[in-house]
Amino acid sequence: MGKYVKTEIGISTLLNPVPVVMISCAGKSTAPNITTVAWAGTVNSEPPMVTVSLRKSRYSHEIISETGEFVINLVGKSLAKACDYCGVKSGRDENKFESCSLTPVKALNLDYAYAIKEAPVSLSCKVKSVTELGSHDMFLAEIVGINASSFLLDDDGKLCLDKAKLVGYSHGEYYLLGEKIGFFGYSVASKEVFENRMGYKKERDKYKHLKEQNIKKGKKY
Ligand SMILES: Cc1cc2nc3c(=O)[nH]c(=O)nc-3n(C[C@H](O)[C@H](O)[C@H](O)COP(=O)(O)O)c2cc1C
Repeated sequence: MGKYVKTEIGISTLLNPVPVVMISCAGKSTAPNITTVAWAGTVNSEPPMVTVSLRKSRYSHEIISETGEFVINLVGKSLAKACDYCGVKSGRDENKFESCSLTPVKALNLDYAYAIKEAPVSLSCKVKSVTELGSHDMFLAEIVGINASSFLLDDDGKLCLDKAKLVGYSHGEYYLLGEKIGFFGYSVASKEVFENRMGYKKERDKYKHLKEQNIKKGKKY
């Protein structure tokens, strides 16, 4: 049987990979909470909008419905275990910030929600609408502020998200984002642009410089 001969399999939520994020929120008079969500996505650019789908049974659903606010915290490798934990325990039974030794910090441009200090990037979101879909309710929200950890910014203030060592989710398993294989438009980029953007030129220049230094020191090639 050829590799690309297709077999029909059962219908499910098989769109993969998906992001996995930690949603933080806080009620008007309750402690901050964290829940893990894989059903999240970007749905608009201007204004920047996202959706997050939650079952009605989640404590976070109750909190976000009360305040209309939440924070999407991106997950780096060092947060992966806490991310999983926040997806199997409920804030109704414990304070997950404390259980995971995480620090709640007031979220940018929001009144009630807290962000996770240890997260590389935190997106403050304000709910625009809630749509009942079946198993989940979809919260459509606008991003109203973003905080990024300073180690992600280079000397020119440019965001280097690769340094966050982000984690993705595929078919029930967590993966560390790996090798860069291209960039937006690389299929039509010139060789020069491609080599620059992929960092090949920088590598070559570094090697050339090292070689020149070694030759000066008398090393033979
Ligand atoms: C990887 C992962 C992804 C999850 N994605 C979702 C999701 O998209 N929507 C949802 O309602 N629950 C999702 N969950 C389950 C909730 O995170 C879990 O029920 C959590 O305990 C709810 O916490 P809370 O009661 O404090 O809100 C996910 C769990 C894991 C581990």
